[in-house]
Amino acid sequence: MPDAVMDRKQVIQRELLWHEQESHRRHRLDSLLYDPPAFDDVVQQSIDFLQGDSGELVLDMGCGEGKEALELASRNLYVVGTDLSYTQLKRARELIKQELPQAKLCLIQANAEQLPFANSSFRMIYGKAILHHLDLDASSKETQRLLSSNGRATFAEPMARHFIIWLGRRLTPKLRTDDERPMKLSDLEHFGHTFEEPKLQTYYLLAPLAYTFRLIPGFEKMFATIFSLLSTLDQVLLTHFTFLRRFAWYGSIMVLQRSHDK
Ligand SMILES: C[S@@+](CC[C@H](N)C(=O)[O-])C[C@H]1O[C@@H](n2cnc3c(N)ncnc32)[C@H](O)[C@@H]1O
Repeated sequence: MPDAVMDRKQVIQRELLWHEQESHRRHRLDSLLYDPPAFDDVVQQSIDFLQGDSGELVLDMGCGEGKEALELASRNLYVVGTDLSYTQLKRARELIKQELPQAKLCLIQANAEQLPFANSSFRMIYGKAILHHLDLDASSKETQRLLSSNGRATFAEPMARHFIIWLGRRLTPKLRTDDERPMKLSDLEHFGHTFEEPKLQTYYLLAPLAYTFRLIPGFEKMFATIFSLLSTLDQVLLTHFTFLRRFAWYGSIMVLQRSHDK
């Protein structure tokens, strides 16, 4: 077996083991960072981009504990959630069963770089915080393969250069896997370049300062207000001063599949 293939197999194995055995360590941090209303704009804009019709099939690639699968299902989409980790999928199943028992949902344990679906199986693919665990070329090819003609895919990913987040990562290495790599704008651009009309969007420069309030019991409302105000200011800054985009916390790439008729 070629060295590169062997190396990738070992990475996938390490990712799997970490998410099965260690991911519980991240619960409090994930809840602090991602519980609504934080990230509402990222998630809503990504889902809006997909333009799903009621009952349509959507692939949630690397669905993790199912928070966004729940969001997609609550828009009456039929969600196929895939993840490497059985433990994560079990949590996703429990969450959705509890919050939206009528959800149309299918969960499958699989490696996102080689998914067990036929070509052109999906018109919509959603991902959040998954590409930075994957080989970019392999996942870009797999997304191309799975998207049907005129299909849409969106991925929102943590980026490498936000100072507070960078510092947080350095201080808490045990809360993430050894192989994950926060992305640069150029990585997202590289991922998007083989698709039609790739659209890059960045989020959150100053908004992470608001988490200080979330750390204080009883200040959740204050957190929500400050987070929302700073996010709005961030959008103005990121729109007018494009050099700041590389320092944003999150970046998303939204792409269209080329029409197969062309
Ligand atoms: C940071 S979590 C994000 C989960 C979810 N999308 C969210 O935003 O809450 C990353 C997820 O990717 C999964 N993962 C890592 N490598 C993977 C791979 N090669 N194939 C599929 N899933 C993978 C992990 O098990 C984990 O659940």
